[in-house]
Amino acid sequence: MKKIILDCDPGHDDMVAIILACASDGLDILGITTVAGNQTGDKTLLNALKTLTLIGEKNIPVAGGFDRPLTGKLVTAPHIHGLSGLDGADLPDPEIKPLKIHAVDFIELTLMKADEKVTVIATGPLTNIAVLLLKSAQIKEKIERIIIMGGAVYESNITPSAEFNIYVDPEAAGIVLNSGIPVTMVTLDVSNKAIFTLEDIDNIKSLNGKVSRVVSGLLRFFAEANIKSFGFEGAPLHDPITVAYAVDPDIIETELYHVDIETKGEYTRGKTVVDVYGVTKKNTNAEISVSLDLARYKDLITGAVKKFD
Ligand code: RIB
Ligand code: CA
Repeated sequence: MKKIILDCDPGHDDMVAIILACASDGLDILGITTVAGNQTGDKTLLNALKTLTLIGEKNIPVAGGFDRPLTGKLVTAPHIHGLSGLDGADLPDPEIKPLKIHAVDFIELTLMKADEKVTVIATGPLTNIAVLLLKSAQIKEKIERIIIMGGAVYESNITPSAEFNIYVDPEAAGIVLNSGIPVTMVTLDVSNKAIFTLEDIDNIKSLNGKVSRVVSGLLRFFAEANIKSFGFEGAPLHDPITVAYAVDPDIIETELYHVDIETKGEYTRGKTVVDVYGVTKKNTNAEISVSLDLARYKDLITGAVKKFD
């Protein structure tokens, strides 16, 4: 089994990533940590606890992390995820409590005592992961790979230049990408095409179980927000691609590039500058997603929801 830590900012697609991770027999989830992003830190933590309660998963440690980026003010995404961060359905009140320690301390303690390297999956702004790398010199040796949902070669969403997770904390993203740890970036270029259409969402609704009813309601909200904001055909399930890749790396194709993060540009702060032609001659530092097996991906997600219904 692959040991993982999932750091996230639930968020609708983060919620599906949590469900997919919990449904994946090949993953040993050492913990779930949360960070401010789609909504404030208190809300993303609450949403993670609610999601685990919904699927009856009460044995995974949960720890809350940073409620703001390394520099500047927090930017959230209520236009996409609503005021709660998970608008669109009623989730159960949490039946589990978060740990009293900070997410960064939890991840450090967990990785240091793990008997093998751990894969870190990050589907929100990278604040927690960056501070972990700054705090502990030894921690790099304990990390197999960091799989992030973030960035883009050509696409954008929060500004014309940047993808949301990177934009919220570009300094943190730079620390992660310059860490020397193997990184896979699931980018918007691929995830904006990972669309669950309204028909797909109705198919989940038709399962008519306790989880599928809630998930379909949440995904419809998420779809309508994305249709309104970007003219998409439905809900782009960005985050679960990272988990699907951890389970089965062949579900996406990747290419190795050098990536820099713009932190200063008036119009370009948060842009992932991907050197697709190698013109900088810099060493490559990330596997960048270039395609996804969408049919297999949809089956994985639907199967995960069914498993907890
Ligand atoms: O840009 C999409 C990413 O930002 C996703 O992870 C979404 O959940 C938000 O965090
Ligand atoms: Ca996210």
